[in-house]
Amino acid sequence: MYEQEKQLVAEAALTYVKDGMIVGLGTGSTTERFIEALGPLVQAGLQIQGVATSLATVRLAERLHIPLIDLEEGMEIDVTIDGIDQIDGRFQTIKGGGGALFREKIVALMSRELLYLTDSSKFVHHLSGPLPVELDPFALPYVRQRLRDKHVSATLRVKDDRPFVTDGGHVILDVELSAISDVRVFAKEVKSWSGVLDTGYFERQPDHVLTVEEGKVKRIAH
Ligand code: A5P
Repeated sequence: MYEQEKQLVAEAALTYVKDGMIVGLGTGSTTERFIEALGPLVQAGLQIQGVATSLATVRLAERLHIPLIDLEEGMEIDVTIDGIDQIDGRFQTIKGGGGALFREKIVALMSRELLYLTDSSKFVHHLSGPLPVELDPFALPYVRQRLRDKHVSATLRVKDDRPFVTDGGHVILDVELSAISDVRVFAKEVKSWSGVLDTGYFERQPDHVLTVEEGKVKRIAH
């Protein structure tokens, strides 16, 4: 069911891409569908430059011959199209389920327009997490202890029986939010701890979201 919704929003997102644009290319299974759909348009002559939010997205864009550029000082990305893990009624969001949260956040912050693609499972009343926290592996015992002191549980993300390593060489703690009353305040505090690079709480909110309601794509503007 969600697979079909992902495909619908991914295809609908193509209308946001216009000739000459710099386009932020997100990470995850929904964005993957969008990039797969974008490839043929580029091959047919659509002139865009992409900014990738992960090495996985770099590989996908290269396979589809979508030209990529690096971030530069002063650059404004026209539109970034990305997926999401959770969004609440106030447009607060959690990302990072795919492990690309840091690059996704930087690209979002450098974008004039931010569009998130969501299937209907991503809308929640309260952000319930987990909240991904990306940190230097050396700081892992320290950050874990600080979380324990606050009576907050966290799980080290694992892939193929080893700690998951991000594109930047960091590890991720997936933090339980059940004991947290205000995710924004909590994320700000965690980010201030030495060794923490960033969290999956995105301060930059999307300008609009595409989702599916009763089988149809719906755009929700912020
Ligand atoms: C990647 O780090 C994440 O922020 C993804 O954008 C998010 O997990 C959405 O992924 P799906 O599109 O696979 O649901």
